[in-house]
Amino acid sequence: MKIVGIVGSNAEVSYNRLLLNFIKKQYSQLFDLDVIEIKDIPLFNQSDNQTESAPIQKLNKKITEADAVIIATPEHNHTIPASLKSVIEWLSFEIHPLENKPVMIVGASYYDQGSSRAQLHLRQILDAPGVNALVMPGNEFLLGKVKQAFDENNNLKEQNTIKFLESTLKKFVQFVQLVTRLDESSDQPLPEEDLHVTNTIDTTIKDVNMSAEDWVEQAAKKVNAVEGDTYVKLNRGILTVDQINTFLASMPMELTFADNNNQFLYYNYTKPAEEMLADRVPGQVGNPLALCHPERSLKSVEWVIQQLRSGKQDAVRVHVPTHGPDKFVVHNYQAMHDDQGNYAGINEYVLDFKPVVNWYLKQTGQKLEGSTDSLSNSPKHDVDAGSGATTKG
Ligand SMILES: Cc1cc2nc3c(=O)[nH]c(=O)nc-3n(C[C@H](O)[C@H](O)[C@H](O)COP(=O)(O)O)c2cc1C
Repeated sequence: MKIVGIVGSNAEVSYNRLLLNFIKKQYSQLFDLDVIEIKDIPLFNQSDNQTESAPIQKLNKKITEADAVIIATPEHNHTIPASLKSVIEWLSFEIHPLENKPVMIVGASYYDQGSSRAQLHLRQILDAPGVNALVMPGNEFLLGKVKQAFDENNNLKEQNTIKFLESTLKKFVQFVQLVTRLDESSDQPLPEEDLHVTNTIDTTIKDVNMSAEDWVEQAAKKVNAVEGDTYVKLNRGILTVDQINTFLASMPMELTFADNNNQFLYYNYTKPAEEMLADRVPGQVGNPLALCHPERSLKSVEWVIQQLRSGKQDAVRVHVPTHGPDKFVVHNYQAMHDDQGNYAGINEYVLDFKPVVNWYLKQTGQKLEGSTDSLSNSPKHDVDAGSGATTKG
């Protein structure tokens, strides 16, 4: 479960930030918490619409893609700080990422009942039309006397407080699961995927036939692609093209790159298709994804891409049991994102996990429960990843 934790304070040093960081660290088994800041968000001004600015769009995207939100609010003058209120105004003006989003409120402040009044106000604010968040009822966590609450490692000192916090977070997780189930039953279908690549994007190499056997050679000529011992500056490093190839070829997995336009652009070619876990052939590179799969698999391919593009799932994993009991082959379809967080395509890596698991078991002196070969029992899955990657052969 992906949860965004909003630090409701714009102060350099903030107890509410400490609280969220503690939650992130202490309860990582319950959910992934992405702690985000509001200090770069400008003051709301209806006459100076900054909805499209990078900090507001970043916040919008993170909230939209998260399953839920935890807001840690300080209390200023018996209410929430102006900086937090300003953020909620931006998030209810032209964009509405909190709409129907499960939210939990927590708060830390100096005094005994600190943050209780701010929390009540925040509930009302989040309920306003335009915000329309789904604040979990009856679940409150107040951290009063906050100056004494943390030890030198920024951990909460009181075991009872830690236990109580855990119980409120567990209730919130159940609430999120319930809301998500209700939401899924009324889900709108996701937009169709253009698997035949009928449009281009900025990085598409134009005027080269995508299904040509020598697409790579033709496309390389078109854009004067560098090769061999030419240096390429990367983040973070400099390698020659040969070194990049050597590096990628040494990855203990089969790697494939399909861009956000559903064009197959790369695989770390080292062996013939018949020796691969997921067969690829050199002439296939450049193809629209529709040409890389048999017709009967296209619905599954589309479903996977829809999950990744929409952010519903960061990764889709499929166990492909057709390699026999000696292997546990998993196709991992991992969403890629650019610096701005935009969907950038699929990193598909295919590997046999069995040697890794066997090594781990040996190192830790453990055995798999049940049978020595539990890993070969294949779970049933809706996605067809065993159909082979090419219709060209
Ligand atoms: C202008 C101002 C007003 C405050 N009003 C309250 C208050 O009404 N109730 C309270 O419990 N604490 C109040 N405090 C103290 C806050 O609890 C304290 O600054 C807290 O650390 C804020 O959270 P932060 O550390 O995450 O920024 C106030 C602090 C400031 C600066």
